Amino acid sequence: MKICFATNNKKKIEEVKAALGDSFTIVSLEEIGCREELPETGDTLDHNAFQKARYVKDNYGVDCFADDTGLEVDALNGAPGVYSGRYAGEPRSDERNIDLLLKNLNGASDRSAKFRTVIALLLNGEEHSFEGIANGEILKERTGTGGFGYDPVFKPVGFDKTFAELSMDEKNEISHRGKAVKSLVQFLK
Ligand code: IMP
Repeated sequence: MKICFATNNKKKIEEVKAALGDSFTIVSLEEIGCREELPETGDTLDHNAFQKARYVKDNYGVDCFADDTGLEVDALNGAPGVYSGRYAGEPRSDERNIDLLLKNLNGASDRSAKFRTVIALLLNGEEHSFEGIANGEILKERTGTGGFGYDPVFKPVGFDKTFAELSMDEKNEISHRGKAVKSLVQFLK
């Protein structure tokens, strides 16, 4: 069965393909001829994930799933949340996003935070969603060079390393996205 993962992020596609095996053919946006940016105008992860998936289904007629992720910091009432990618404005910059996060957390005693991923699936006329959460805390300075986004300042619970110091496999095992993908794969299989 063919199913589109509404992303052009090659790493995300590889990860899902590896987890699913041969039972599903996963195709990217590029492979279905979708080159425009997908609409993402909601103020929740759920809204944006379903909005992207519905756009693909409505315009390209293929079953699909889409993901949306945010970093939710307790002392900032859940910010940057759904705005994580553009926290410090456009053009998007991981460096400036981290600088702003550290500035806004300056002096905060509670630095607990979580990454949350929502995957929205449209399959055979039905809608399903899957969630993955990684709990942790925001460090006061960057450590490690791997990963992307807020990884250098996010230390997951139970580890004394940041996401940026873990190997890709180690991170996938415990990460928000890894957990959401695992639930999706269990459902599809
Ligand atoms: P997206 O929904 O996967 O595009 O993620 C939105 C934003 O959240 C990204 O631009 C990053 O800033 C941040 N983000 C998502 N996943 C991760 C992660 O695994 N580590 C660090 N930052 C992430």
